[in-house]
Amino acid sequence: MTLDDLSRHQILELLHKAAYIDAHRREVSHTCDGRVLATLFYEPSTRTRLSFETAMLRLGGKVIGFAGAQLASVTKGESIADTIKTVSNYVDAIAIRHPKEGAALVASRAASVPVINAGDGGHMHPTQTLADLATLQSRFGRITDLTVGLCGDLTFGRTVHSLIETLCRFGNVRFVLISPDELKTPQYVIDRINATPSCSYVEVRDLVSVIGDLDVLYMTRVQKERFFNEDDYLRLRDTYILDEAKLSLAQPHMAVLHPLPRVNEIAVEVDDDPRAAYFEQVKNGMLMRMALESSVIGDELPGYVPLEPK
Ligand code: CP
Repeated sequence: MTLDDLSRHQILELLHKAAYIDAHRREVSHTCDGRVLATLFYEPSTRTRLSFETAMLRLGGKVIGFAGAQLASVTKGESIADTIKTVSNYVDAIAIRHPKEGAALVASRAASVPVINAGDGGHMHPTQTLADLATLQSRFGRITDLTVGLCGDLTFGRTVHSLIETLCRFGNVRFVLISPDELKTPQYVIDRINATPSCSYVEVRDLVSVIGDLDVLYMTRVQKERFFNEDDYLRLRDTYILDEAKLSLAQPHMAVLHPLPRVNEIAVEVDDDPRAAYFEQVKNGMLMRMALESSVIGDELPGYVPLEPK
């Protein structure tokens, strides 16, 4: 599953459902009774894997899987397709993270159960986008009509690619793409903005000169694991560090998002600023995965009234 597989209404429905789940945790706690989710993580993860698993447990379901390819038969040479065909016999849905772009698509073609992309290389991270959208919704009451700055590693930052593509589907967003020349946004993502008449973008290098224009500042880590060259990583990793001095130039309502993990790109002193929204994103990630899992493999949420179609 990617967000392109969902209609705009289905995405809004997930946001609505996550808010309901947050307010009715006890009532929804048997929605996935008897269901099993596999989390197949061929790459490290803290938030995504643990929130997929917590979400399933909180809905009454169970989880199997592996955290690290070294523990699976991939080390004996097994293909993704064979692993997925095997695991499809055991579970009701699979969440997969893999270092190769397109791995989730390959998995979904081999699977006989729903497959959820939990991050494929430097390509996409759709369930992180669900967490990001929920955070925008709770901060602004909307996910459109925003000036969204994305800062850091825009080349390899898959969360950035997913977020831009999804915001383009809702429209009316001005993107400010802040990166060094070496880490600019890939052309296929720029093409998506260009194909959306109500969206626009500028590319800049300097954060300070644009921070005052932003409603949202989405900081990202320079993705060390995707660099071919250690020297380039060391040269670029500290290009942007958001601290209180820079934040003092931003509007009072601006929200600072970051998919985490962070390295140096947001100083810890920023955590106490009311504009820091990145730990809200973490909570929203679990709630959105509960909404997703209950929608994909669960029963109806007791008492839940679906969103009216527009
Ligand atoms: N945001 C995110 O994908 O974090 P993890 O790598 O810890 O899962």
